[in-house]
Amino acid sequence: MRIALIGYGKMGKAIETIALQKGHEIVLKIDLDNAHELTKEYLGKADVAIEFTGPSNAVDNIKKCMDAGTPVVSGSTGWLERWNEVEQYCNTSKGSLLYASNYSIGVNLFFELNKYLAKLMEPYGEYDVQMEEVHHTQKKDAPSGTAITLAEQVLKQIRRKKLWVNQEAGTPDELQIISERTDPAPGTHKIKYTSDIDDLEIIHTAHNRVGFAGGAVLGAEFLAGKKGIYSMKDVLGL
Ligand SMILES: NC(=O)c1ccc[n+]([C@@H]2O[C@H](COP(=O)([O-])OP(=O)(O)OC[C@H]3O[C@@H](n4cnc5c(N)ncnc54)[C@H](O)[C@@H]3O)[C@@H](O)[C@H]2O)c1
Repeated sequence: MRIALIGYGKMGKAIETIALQKGHEIVLKIDLDNAHELTKEYLGKADVAIEFTGPSNAVDNIKKCMDAGTPVVSGSTGWLERWNEVEQYCNTSKGSLLYASNYSIGVNLFFELNKYLAKLMEPYGEYDVQMEEVHHTQKKDAPSGTAITLAEQVLKQIRRKKLWVNQEAGTPDELQIISERTDPAPGTHKIKYTSDIDDLEIIHTAHNRVGFAGGAVLGAEFLAGKKGIYSMKDVLGL
């Protein structure tokens, strides 16, 4: 498969290593210094693009891939307030998008576990629920995209919580997410249920970026040749 890498930072480099190991070819590498090369002509040489740049430029990059007719796997976080706009753009341009706030297989299994635990805990109002996430200090957004996905899953099940807040909860209906930034930390997420009697918690800790990069390459293999919008649930058949 011929891959275009958009964003050649920590994730772009980790994805390149895995893609080459799997026998794929990198036909285009775009970073800030050659961003003008993200054109229809260059993108046309790729079967699929993998976009990991960050919150500010993700939407423009994704739209350029759709304009060029190149399926795009995006992992950039911190832009989902524009999701509806991107979804509409994908539909009108007949584009292809795979998006996940987290591409690691372990985290996607953790999402399923989180939903199941929240469903079990819903009837037991004596338990409060809180979240924590830890990432490296260069991370631009807080809370992490993964923490937001986890929080939304909890809010869907636990009716006594109405909204998430990225600080200490002020009222019992707020789901608190505490974000900690420290180095090195590829990513830890914890969901904790506490009562006077006992505590239950589930934790996912990434040891490195290999899981995210491997999942993104798997996602690219899945997306090439398809139209429409997909998630890691589709890739993993969950
Ligand atoms: N979904 C996931 O599984 C997952 C996993 C890890 C990181 N992320 C997210 O991916 C993004 C990138 O993470 P990273 O750790 O590689 O960051 P990074 O800062 O190491 O790399 C980002 C790169 O993108 C480049 N860039 C910025 N704007 C650009 C543009 N307009 N065109 C081309 N290149 C541009 C930067 O110069 C940089 O080299 C972040 O939003 C991060 O939160 C997602």
